[in-house]
Amino acid sequence: MANFRGNVPLSIITITILAFAALLYTERLGSLSSRAKFRFKPCARSNAVERLVDVNGFSYADDELFDFDPDQCSLNHGKWVFNRSIEPLYSDRTCRFLDRQVSCVKNGRPDSDYRYWEWQPDNCRLPKFDPRMVLRKLKGKRLMFVGDSLQRGQWQSFVCLVDSVIPKGKKSMKRGRLHSVFRAKEYDVTVEFYWAPFLVESNTDVRIKADPKQRIVKVDSVEKHAKHWLGVDILVFNTYVWWMSGLKTKILWGSFANGEEGYEEVETHISYTLGLKTWANWVDSNVNPSKTRVFFTTMSPSHHRPADWGNENGTKCFDERRPVLKKGHWGSGSDKRLMGVVGSVVARMKVPVTVINITQLSEYRIDAHTSVYTELGGKVLTGDQKDDPLHYADCIHWCLPGLPDTWNQIFYTNLML
Ligand SMILES: *[C@@H]1O[C@H](CO)[C@@H](O)[C@H](O)[C@H]1NC(C)=O
Ligand SMILES: *[C@@H]1O[C@H](CO)[C@@H](O)[C@H](O)[C@H]1NC(C)=O
Ligand SMILES: *[C@@H]1O[C@H](CO)[C@@H](O)[C@H](O)[C@H]1NC(C)=O
Repeated sequence: MANFRGNVPLSIITITILAFAALLYTERLGSLSSRAKFRFKPCARSNAVERLVDVNGFSYADDELFDFDPDQCSLNHGKWVFNRSIEPLYSDRTCRFLDRQVSCVKNGRPDSDYRYWEWQPDNCRLPKFDPRMVLRKLKGKRLMFVGDSLQRGQWQSFVCLVDSVIPKGKKSMKRGRLHSVFRAKEYDVTVEFYWAPFLVESNTDVRIKADPKQRIVKVDSVEKHAKHWLGVDILVFNTYVWWMSGLKTKILWGSFANGEEGYEEVETHISYTLGLKTWANWVDSNVNPSKTRVFFTTMSPSHHRPADWGNENGTKCFDERRPVLKKGHWGSGSDKRLMGVVGSVVARMKVPVTVINITQLSEYRIDAHTSVYTELGGKVLTGDQKDDPLHYADCIHWCLPGLPDTWNQIFYTNLML
């Protein structure tokens, strides 16, 4: 406030005008179709850049358009480039919404290089995640991530990315067993997570069955979860890793009311196809594509076999300090057949679904998992457990800040288009 002193009348007038302009600008943005392209051509830029003020009093340029042409650039083909000048928007100390499971630095991870790799698509630059811009885009809307713990990681990354620009007292978080809601009050935005690891129902959704053999997936039922997705403006789904517990999945048709008798055991790609089709049918019959945008995040690879990346003596992903740099690397933790199922189910849907294809770029990131810097039963791993990566390293989940921030950069880019 100090620099306003002695200049009060003018400041007030300026702020009033700017606030009004900001309101108009937001209205204009909001009324554009979600598919409209925001292209910013440097040559067409005028010299006088007008500054506007958003609901939280942040100033931004009037020519803030979005410089990305999806026809010119595939975001999932590229390479990781080390860049020590990257400044993550948050850390596991500044963002208080991170679960201990993914707070690697807090959990004792000593190396930090994994935070300084930047995804560089072959033919363009991946736009930077601009938290204020995305909050203005989402104004008055509900964004919901739906899926498993990897999706929960993407949700927490998104929350922390925007948290960095929301002042204290202007946000809230309500964690629930299935449904959690982060609210940015002044933007009237919610960023939510809904737990449904198979998307369809299963007997392990609420009370998790530790023994995969006891898990039964009800591939034709989604309503119990899906009723919570109604009325959401932007839905981001995933499901993969829970289908991968063994070679076959136990599936059930009809009601759990008849007990869990009568299940069948089928190949995973079949159960996955059935489950995904049930989800797709629900989306096609319940989502109005002019009101709601639907995204699907592809499988997040796990890294349990160091031989995949030529480290015969390694122990899972433990102590990997660099990404795989060999182009097109693909390991045993990504099932191409299930990836194909996502592609073909989504292609036949009536409601357009934007696929956020994170699989290839994540395959390279053997260094980005939580490894032994995680928790077990609510407690950070003990020294002895950390010394036993064969049993305790988690090579499924990812540190935050970290790789899921890049997933959100890609999601953000698609969202702004
Ligand atoms: C490294 O990151 C900084 C900060 O984002 C950026 O200005 C710079 O262009 C990047 N360097 C390379 C080589 O991409
Ligand atoms: C694995 O360990 C053996 C024995 O210590 C060593 O001879 C070999 O070079 C190592 N291989 C790699 C790829 O580091
Ligand atoms: C995702 O990208 C990979 C290559 O990077 C491709 O093989 C796969 O088909 C894509 N998946 C979908 C669902 O589009």
